[in-house]
Amino acid sequence: MKRVLSGIRSTGQLHLGNYFGALKNFVTMQHDAECFFFIADYHSLTTHPDPTRLHGNVKQILSEYLAAGIDPQVATIYIQSDVPQVAELSLLLSMHAYVGELERTASFKDKVRKNPENVNAGLLTYPVLMAADILLHRADYVPVGKDQEQHLELTRRFARRFNQIYGVDYFPESVPYNFGRELVKIPGLDGTGKMGKSEGNGIFLSDSDEVIRKKVMKAVTDSGPTEPNSPFSEPVANIFTIMDAVSEPSTVAYFKEKYASCEIRYGELKKQLAEDIIRTVAPIRERIEAISSNDKYLHEVVTDGAAKARRSADRTLADVREIMGIHPF
Ligand code: TYM
Repeated sequence: MKRVLSGIRSTGQLHLGNYFGALKNFVTMQHDAECFFFIADYHSLTTHPDPTRLHGNVKQILSEYLAAGIDPQVATIYIQSDVPQVAELSLLLSMHAYVGELERTASFKDKVRKNPENVNAGLLTYPVLMAADILLHRADYVPVGKDQEQHLELTRRFARRFNQIYGVDYFPESVPYNFGRELVKIPGLDGTGKMGKSEGNGIFLSDSDEVIRKKVMKAVTDSGPTEPNSPFSEPVANIFTIMDAVSEPSTVAYFKEKYASCEIRYGELKKQLAEDIIRTVAPIRERIEAISSNDKYLHEVVTDGAAKARRSADRTLADVREIMGIHPF
């Protein structure tokens, strides 16, 4: 059976980008493959080392993922730090990860640019820990958004290098996956860039209907097409990308036609978009409230998930230690 793994950092709340980039795909696959889902709390320490908020953030994300459809009866859902074997695998993989290739990673360069005062070693080795997350369960498929493509490329490179150096065929070449189609990038509502947790441009799965309507009505557009069949400006293309994810194809086609014939009214487009987003978000939001107040259930889910994930991790580490020559006395 194919193995699938996906994860999310434990910072902020879940937004539509997380949902359509990774989660929806994972939820769809969970019944047909051996699926692992984890919350990357170690990774969040590279940028958000706040002990008073870490646990609350993990709980929030966990509740949101369960509310959005991850079924702990079929998938293994766990917290990264409950499976510290990943830290050992990361250490072992780091022996074959070159500083130069880590320094060239786009996400590292971006963090250096944004926070020059905190270029910590954890940021540099972030892709190694991520590769360890994936290879710990020897995952074949990794549902992720487009922004994680380069990290997955590095994971495959580390896996290939390990196999070559030790003359084994042990780690698979894990592929990023989105329903067998192109990886997606859900844009923000501010006209440019991707939807993010801290960019102030996102719709969160915990947003109320009213908040969603307000955010969408304020989304950046342009002054409208002046000639038939003119190309979309970036902000309008972004609105249509979100619409492609949440609306019926006939709705998208209707508004594209209106645009092409210069009859589009952005107010009408946004109203429809807001209602279609609410259709996706509202049922999830209602479940979030119920799940996050059920501490007993959350405790059971992560305890059970950690035990299953540790069993899988122990198998891999026993093999990797053996392959690398770390033998017991
Ligand atoms: P993170 O926490 O930023 O995001 C979690 C998932 O959501 C996807 N995503 C998006 N997809 C489309 N459009 C967007 N605007 C958008 N924003 C976020 C991300 O691609 C991701 O799939 N490094 C990872 C966490 C991680 C991980 C892993 C993921 C650590 N180890 C192992 C998979 C496998 C991250 O920061 O994702």
